[in-house]
This record gives sequence, structure tokens and C-alpha cells, in this order.
Amino acid sequence: MIFVDACFKKETPRTPIWMMRQAGRSLPEYRETRKRVGSFIDMTKNPDVVCEVTLQPVDRFDVDAAILFSDILNLPMEMGLPLRFQAGVGPIFDKTISTIEDIDVLNPASEKLEYVYEGVRKIREKLDDAKALIGFAGSPWTIATYMVEGRGSKQYPKIKRMVYADSNTLHKLLQLNTKETIGYLKNQIKAGANAVMVFDSWGGALEKDKFFEFSWNYMKEIASSIKEEYPQIPVILFSKGVGLYLEDMVDGEFDVIGIDWNTPIEYAANIVNSKKTIQGNMDPTRLYSKEATKEAVLHIANVMRGKPHIFNLGHGILPDTDWENVKYFVDLVKEVTSK
Ligand code: CP3
Repeated sequence: MIFVDACFKKETPRTPIWMMRQAGRSLPEYRETRKRVGSFIDMTKNPDVVCEVTLQPVDRFDVDAAILFSDILNLPMEMGLPLRFQAGVGPIFDKTISTIEDIDVLNPASEKLEYVYEGVRKIREKLDDAKALIGFAGSPWTIATYMVEGRGSKQYPKIKRMVYADSNTLHKLLQLNTKETIGYLKNQIKAGANAVMVFDSWGGALEKDKFFEFSWNYMKEIASSIKEEYPQIPVILFSKGVGLYLEDMVDGEFDVIGIDWNTPIEYAANIVNSKKTIQGNMDPTRLYSKEATKEAVLHIANVMRGKPHIFNLGHGILPDTDWENVKYFVDLVKEVTSK
């Protein structure tokens, strides 16, 4: 698998490519499946649908890795917080965490996510042997932002009040999320995932010291626990908005560090200095134009030539992206990085 080889900094015939949110609303076949099944959460709970949707972008674009179709919020949902998605708002937890007592009534969830593991087994059975299946979870901090705020947030007033005024409660929640996430990711590996990725999409909401205290330390614990038991499984970190903190992230046990588009690739390459594989980082909105896509692909390929790299976007594909431009992107990356 060239994807796994690249994660371990081995030479590959070309740079592997996949995209965050490659399965989803930008694909007509996804919208068809979604119409048939009805709700997004129901899709994630049905292993046959999980398998079907995971394979859709692999079939259409011939990317080097499939990412499990699920959501980072299935874990807190199964811990006991009912989840719903509202058009125009996004994910909503009506019950939220604000006290230690709220945390005490949460239940272990990793066993309840059997529908995810069954999906993983089905995908691994159907997926081409040369392609990797990436399992994932949200970071303890990022899922905590939803568990405390109840929904996506721009300013994070409730959880940041905890950071500065009630850190004991927050640390207790993060410890629980960490424990559950370790069990969840290990079960995905047991079911057949070839790599796992931690999405720390909202790490950048924190000042540097607070990022290391409330997000990084817990992610590091997840990476250590997985590497100890499964050294052959690459562990990938994607934290958004933390480019300036990179220097202090190079020594963790992650094999791959994902970067967003606000972190110039030459800057990241210089700091990471080939100690880790870099994943990223084209701005997904460049996919609105083939010319803009080409410009970035040539630049990124040029900077990363000879260095360990996995091509990806700097965050997820937007739903209104034209799939023909995505196909152009994938084909171009393969062409320009071939040795
Ligand atoms: O990358 C992939 O293709 C794999 C599947 C995946 C989804 N969500 C599917 C999804 C992954 C890895 C995620 C992670 C996720 N979910 C994150 C972290 C990564 C990131 O993008 O920052 C976050 C913050 C979430 C929470 C979440 N789930 C949001 C904010 C939304 C969008 C809500 C909206 O209405 O716009 C979702 C829903 C979601 N997750 C969809 C998909 C395909 C859209 C569902 C639909 O409407 O059909």
C-alpha cells in the first residue's frame, strides 16, 4: 500500500493522495444514497451503507486510501448524548456537559459502536488490497467542544470558561474522551483499518500553552497507546489552526502530521524536516477552478519533492465542489509526482 509506505517515510513510486470528506455531499451518488436512507445518522449506523458510501470516492477518483464513512460525533452520541443534525445549523446535542455529575452519567461507548466495526470489516473485504482504509476519531478536545457547547461554535464561550475557570471538570471530560477514543480506534484496527487518524479540527481555538494542556497531551496519549499495541499501524494527526505550534509537535508519536492551508507547506517542511510525513494542504476552495488547482498542485509537489508527503486538502471538500475538478486534481497529482 503506497499510502502506508508513505506514512512510514518509505520511498513510493509517486505521492499517494486522498481527500478529507471525500465521501459526502459533493458526490451525486452520495446524494442518491442519502435520499434513499433518509437521515445522515441512520446512514452511519448501517454497515452496508457505510461500506457503499466509503467506496464511492475510491471508485470514482481512484484515490489511494478510503476513509471510513462515519462522524466524529457518533462516539459522544453513544456515550449518552442524543445527537441530531439540523439543516443550516449542523450537529446539535440538546443535552450538554457542564458539571462533573453530567460526566459521571456518561456510559462506555466503544462496544456500542459495533455497527462501525462491522462497516470496517465489510469495506476491507471489498476494497482493493493496494488501497488503505483509514479509521478515525475526533480528538478528545474537539469532541468536547460539541459536548459542552451543544453545537458548532465560533467563540467557544462555554468550554473556554471551563479552560480558565473550571479546568478540573474539563480535564475529567477529556480523560474520559481519551479512554473511549483509544478503545474505539483499537476496535477499528481489530476490524481491519490500516491506519487511524485523529481529527482535532478545533485545536486552533486554544492559545499555545492551552492547546498543549487540553488537546495535544490527550492526543499524544492516544498515539502512544496505539503505537504500543499496533506499531505497524500509522497514526495520523490533523489539527487545524496550529501551524505556529508545529515546532513542539514534531516529537510526538504520530507518524503523519496533517496541515491546513494557513500553514505554508515550505514552512511546515522546514520545521518537520522529514522527521514525519506531512499530509496536506491545498485550500479545498481551489477546487472551484482547474487553473487554481494546478497552480497549487505544482507548488506543493515542487516543495515536497523527495520529502515524505501525502497529498490532501487543508480541510474537507465543500459540498458544492464540482466532482470533475476533483478528478482533475487527483489525476494531476498522480501525474506530476510520478517518478
Ligand atoms: O472524510 C470523510 O469523507 C469521512 C467521513 C467524515 C464525516 N465527518 C462525514 C460527514 C469525517 C472524517 C467527518 C469528521 C467530522 N465531523 C469533523 C472533523 C473533520 C472536519 O471536517 O473538521 C467534524 C468537526 C464533524 C462534525 C460534523 N459532521 C459537521 C460540522 C457536519 C456538517 C453539518 C452540516 O450540515 O453541514 C457533519 C455532517 C457530516 N459528516 C456529513 C458528512 C458526509 C454531511 C452529512 C449530510 O448532510 O449528508
